[in-house]
This record gives sequence, structure tokens and C-alpha cells, in this order.
Amino acid sequence: MKALVLSGGAGTRLRPITHTSAKQLVPVANKPVLFYGLEAIAEAGITEVGIIVGDTAEEIRQAVGDGSALGLKVTYIPQDAPLGLAHAVLIAREFLGDEDFVMYLGDNFIVGGISGLVDQFRADKPDAQILLTRVPNPTAFGVAELGADGKVIGLEEKPQHPKSDLALVGVYLFTPAVHEAVRAIKPSWRGELEITHAIQWLIDEQKDVRSTTIGGYWKDTGNVTDMLEVNRTVLETLEPSIEGSVDEASEIIGRVQIHPTAKITGSRIVGPAIIGPGSTISDSYVGPFTSISENCRIEDAEVEYSIVLRDSSIIGVRRIEASLIGRNVEITPAPRVPAAHRLVIGDYSKVQISK
Ligand code: G1P
Repeated sequence: MKALVLSGGAGTRLRPITHTSAKQLVPVANKPVLFYGLEAIAEAGITEVGIIVGDTAEEIRQAVGDGSALGLKVTYIPQDAPLGLAHAVLIAREFLGDEDFVMYLGDNFIVGGISGLVDQFRADKPDAQILLTRVPNPTAFGVAELGADGKVIGLEEKPQHPKSDLALVGVYLFTPAVHEAVRAIKPSWRGELEITHAIQWLIDEQKDVRSTTIGGYWKDTGNVTDMLEVNRTVLETLEPSIEGSVDEASEIIGRVQIHPTAKITGSRIVGPAIIGPGSTISDSYVGPFTSISENCRIEDAEVEYSIVLRDSSIIGVRRIEASLIGRNVEITPAPRVPAAHRLVIGDYSKVQISK
């Protein structure tokens, strides 16, 4: 069995963070979302992985390399334009050969991995198996309609009037039967070859398409709320380890991971929280559910329930909360006179200022 991981796409929903970085590399608990997927694939006993890459190919290659660090053998498959998930299967035909495969969307996050699912697929051998989860906003997803016996009757891509709240999760298991399906379908209204339509084609051809409904699913729906939530969920399972230097004036409480090269002085850190390589925290408070990534500087400040990406500094400001701070960001107090906010904010940013 092989894996096909999709890591193209523009990530418009996570702007401005994705203006300068691939959406699959946005970190959760200081690790790119994509890596959780790749680890889940390795854990399921799959080693041969094809990664579909687009405009951000270079960045993805740099992060994943040949995959050996994760126990994988990675082949990169360039997709010239984002023409759809089924198009990705089309262009991966040679890589996939006649093997069964799991297709994994690199921006999807599944709590608990996919080993159980892959084992079940290997045992039952249906033609295709999809994953579903209940969502509050089905119009943003592919949506499944199940019959009384739980069988998949129909699938629709981003329907205006969804027939259920069961969304297609971005993990699909296929036998080679899907290759005929992706050749048979036509582009959708958004100009993409939809995998949803290919699976519908399999259903129409009386193929055995099964579904499993899961909980613990997250996708980059664009609101920072979701990102902070998944960050929280992952931090809750963090192995505490305090390897960096922590001076006597500091206090570390609960599940906290401090990288060996991080430095904490005169600060209070209340877990779950993670402090990345080369970061320094001084005279500050870092509260629960916070990920501080590498080379950050938090000084005389308070941060809680937030994600701070690399090379950023927060100096001399009181409580920052429920925030996603990008890379190379500087947050400092404004001069006292005049009392005003001074902002240099990138396109598509969102700022909430306390009055
Ligand atoms: C794609 C699929 C959709 C699925 C979703 C899961 O949507 O087309 O059926 O529910 O992934 O992430 P897209 O990311 O292209 O909006």
C-alpha cells in the first residue's frame, strides 16, 4: 500500500500567515500540520509516499526532504495548477501503479492517526473507504448522504443545501478502481476535477464504497479559532520535558516542554505550553495552551492561549490572548504621548485592540 499526500493549494483561508508560507507547514504545537499526517502514515506501516506539490514545492521539499527522518521514502509529484484532488490522482498514476493507496490532504488534522482505519481497509477490502465527521458548516465541505443501513448513497461537493452534516474528511482509501473514475469525470463549476465526483462515480457503478465516522477532526477553515483549538488539543497530550535553562526566579507549572536551547528567566510558565529552540522568555508570563516556536523573544510580557511563530518578539506588553502571531513579528508598546496605536500590518491581517 502507498500514500498520496496533497500539499499544493494556496491556503487563502489562512491569510496572512500563508502569504509567505505553505498552509501545510503552519505549526501546531511547534510541528507543521503536514508532519502529523506523514507520521500517521508511517505509523500505519506505509513507507512509499508521493507528495503532490504546487507553488510552494520548494518549501515543502525543504521541510520534508527525502522523508527518511520520518521513516518514509518520498517521491515529489509536481502539479502545474491546482486542478483538483482527482487531478492529483490522475497525475500520480505512474507513482501509484496498481497498488491500493491512502490519499491524505496535507492540511487536514486527524486526532488519533489512521492506523485503525488502514487496518480495517486491508481486512475488508472495499473498493473505496471514506472518512466522515459531523461539522457545523457542511457547505464548506464535501457532504455525504447515508442510507438507513449506513451505506453511502450520495456525495456532493460544497452543496448550498447540504443533505446532512457529515463532511468528507481529507483522508480517503482507494483500490486501483479509482483510476477509471478520475478519468471518467468532468471538471466542476470551480474548474476542478473533484475527488467527491470520482467517488460518486464509483457509487453509481455499484462499487463498494464504505464510510467511517470519526471525531477529533480539524481543517484550516480560516478562522484562527480552529487553529488555536487544535493547538490546544495537541498540547494537552504533550510529554513534559524541561531541558532548556530555567533560572531560580522562574516557575514552571504543569505540562510544559522547553527545548534544550531555550532560556527562561524570571518568568512563570503555566502549561500546557511549548517553548521552541533558541527562544528566550524573561520577566514574563506564558499561560496555558501557548506554543512559542523558535528564536522568539518574550520579555516583560504576558501571552496566553496563543501561537507565536518563529523569529518574533513580544516585549513590554500586557496580556496577549487567543492570538496567532506570524513570523518575524515585533510587538512593543507605543510611546506614551500621543496615546495612540501604531501598526504596520500585512494584507488580510486581523487585529483586535483593547480600548
Ligand atoms: C476538499 C474536498 C472536500 C473535503 C475537504 C476536506 O475541499 O473537495 O470534499 O471535504 O477537502 O479538507 P477543499 O480543500 O478543496 O476546499
